[in-house]
Amino acid sequence: MTRRIDIVEVGPRDGLQNDPANLTVEQKLEFISRLEEAGVKRMESGSFVSPKAVPKMADSPAVFAGLDRSKPTRHIALALNEKGVRRAIDAQADEINFVLVASETFGRKNQGMSPQDSADMLAQCAPLIHEAGIPLSATISVAFGDPYDGEVDLGLVANLSAQCQRAGVAELALGDTIGVADPWAVRRAIDRVRIEAPDVYLRMHFHDTRGQGLANVAAAVDAGVDVIDASCGGIGGCPFAPAATGNVATEDVVYMLERGGFETGLDLAKLIETSNWLETVLKHPVSSSLSKAGGFPTKSPVTS
Ligand code: COA
Ligand code: ZN
Repeated sequence: MTRRIDIVEVGPRDGLQNDPANLTVEQKLEFISRLEEAGVKRMESGSFVSPKAVPKMADSPAVFAGLDRSKPTRHIALALNEKGVRRAIDAQADEINFVLVASETFGRKNQGMSPQDSADMLAQCAPLIHEAGIPLSATISVAFGDPYDGEVDLGLVANLSAQCQRAGVAELALGDTIGVADPWAVRRAIDRVRIEAPDVYLRMHFHDTRGQGLANVAAAVDAGVDVIDASCGGIGGCPFAPAATGNVATEDVVYMLERGGFETGLDLAKLIETSNWLETVLKHPVSSSLSKAGGFPTKSPVTS
């Protein structure tokens, strides 16, 4: 049987939070609707953080209010503190993705928290989310390296993972926020987290800053992970990470996996179309390879 890999589309959140363009709510909703047309079933559609910290996500409540809920897509809200969780619940998020941080300096700059503060904040917020009946996932950011402190302790990542499990997190992503991981580091991290947090389902979140994104996805899939974050066009990055670049591109991941015999349920041609459309609204090129090269060549009709 074909193995299924689920892609969580993060373009409308991670993708847009740091882009120079200021999309209107209508344009964001069009982006979301195009992704739904391409078959996306889970999507980070906004972020309920301080609008002062991330102005581009200030309109997330309006985006959530405008979603077409008749579609089967589950819309995930990002939150980092109790205020964000309450706002996400009010916005009727289908899932909440809570962000922990694996390193001190990035934690202070991104969310004013140490790694343990972020785990304590999760423990404080998790009951609210469970009471609201909303599935809870989490992402441990800078899990492979911090832009200011350098190396990140895998023991700490594992310890935070165990705390996520205790808080009732169903699915946990290891986030390579600044794109420093390599395929072997990915394998080591997955093996370690599985020992310390065996009950959480693993997802991986890679940025392609140093060209390792697809190799890291392949390593994660080889290690048995079957949920991957990606952003259409490869847009995005974190406003608190210097030289940040986007996530691994959804269409590039889909191409790699489908050529490799996996099933993603996504329509490559529609993703490429959406990437091309994004370039017109963002008014700059996107970084994905497939949006430039197209899919696998089909045999040309014989002409005589
Ligand atoms: N949504 C909206 N406003 C929020 C908020 C939230 N989730 N959390 C805090 N605020 C507001 C407070 O009401 C307060 O407003 P005021 O100045 O008008 O009184 C202000 O923000 C400061 O609140 P405080 O609790 O002291 O937060 P802080 O200044 O320590 O910042 C965070 C902490 C987490 C709110 C902030 O760092 C943040 O939003 N970071 C997001 C980073 C991010 O999204 N990175 C990319 C994705 S990982
Ligand atoms: Zn990210």
